[in-house]
Amino acid sequence: MHGIGKHFGAVKALTDVDFWVNEGEVVALIGDNGAGKSTLVKVLAGVHAPDAGSIEFDGEVVQIDSPADAQDLGIATVFQDLALCDNLDVVANLWLGRELIAGNRLDEVGMEERTWTLLRELAAKIPSVRIPVASLSGGQRQTVAIARSLIGEPRVIILDEPTAALGVAQTAEVLNLIERLRERGHGVILISHNMADVMAVADRVVVLRLGRNNGVYNVVDVTSETLIAAITGAVDGAGSRPPVRRHPPKPPAEAGGGTIIPMPSGPRRMADANDGDA
Ligand SMILES: Nc1ncnc2c1ncn2[C@@H]1O[C@H](COP(=O)(O)OP(=O)(O)OP(=O)(O)O)[C@@H](O)[C@H]1O
Ligand SMILES: [Mg+2]
Repeated sequence: MHGIGKHFGAVKALTDVDFWVNEGEVVALIGDNGAGKSTLVKVLAGVHAPDAGSIEFDGEVVQIDSPADAQDLGIATVFQDLALCDNLDVVANLWLGRELIAGNRLDEVGMEERTWTLLRELAAKIPSVRIPVASLSGGQRQTVAIARSLIGEPRVIILDEPTAALGVAQTAEVLNLIERLRERGHGVILISHNMADVMAVADRVVVLRLGRNNGVYNVVDVTSETLIAAITGAVDGAGSRPPVRRHPPKPPAEAGGGTIIPMPSGPRRMADANDGDA
C-alpha cells in the first residue's frame, strides 16, 4: 500500500501511509487507539475506499472496491468480533456460504474431512467439529475463525486483535497458530496492543500514530520500550526503515502507469470447491 489517505468527514484517519507484507512474514500493525490501524486494514480488505494512494499485489497495481474483490485476490480478514454463527457447528461455520456439494446434497463428509485436515495442520485443539461454536472457549473460537479464513487458500490474512479477549494459555495457542500460518507461506497482518505478543510472533512491526507512519522495525533490532515510544510519539520513528525489503514498491509515477488487474468475477467458489473433490 503506497501513500494511502482516508478521511471520514473532517477526521483524517490516514495520511500518506505506506505498508507492505511479504509471503511467509508476520507484520504487526501497532498504534494507540484511533491511530488508524483498523481503517488501514479495512482499506486492504475492501471495506473502505481510500481517498489517496495505490495498492499493489504481486507487483501489479490493483483496485479493491469491495470485500469480494479482496477475497478474490486472496486477502482474508478475521475481524475482532469473529462473526461466527454460535448455533452452528464448527464444520458449518467453516464452510458457510461456500458449502461443498455432492450430487444435489451437501457433502457433509467431505466438509468434515477437510475441516479435520485443516485443524490438524494448524495443530488446533478442538474437541469436536460437530458441536455448536457457542460451547467452545474463546481461543477455540478464534481458531475456528482463523481456520474459516483459510478455506479459500488466501495469500494474506489480517487478524484484528486476535488475542485481546484471551487468557494466557489461549493466547499461546493463537500465537502458535500464527506461526503455523507463517510456515504455510501466508502473509500475516497482526493488529495488536500487546507488546509481548508482538515481540513473540512478529517479524516486522509497523507503527501508526495519528494516522501516519511512525516507524517500521525488524523485531530482532527493537525493544518493546522503543515500540511504545514510537506509539506514544516520544520517538519520531517516521524515518526508520528496516534494512530488508524483499519487494520494494515502485515509485508512484511508475505504479500509476502499471496495469490494473481486472478482478475475477462470477460465481466460481462452488465450482472450485467441487473440483478439488473430484
Ligand atoms: N466509519 C467511520 N466513520 C467515522 N470515523 C471513523 C470511522 N472509522 C474510523 N473513524 C475514525 O478514524 C480514526 C482511526 O480509527 P481506527 O478505527 O482506524 O483506529 P484504530 O487504530 O483501529 O484504533 P483502536 O486501537 O481503538 O481500534 C479515529 O479517529 C476514528 O474515530
Ligand atoms: Mg481498531
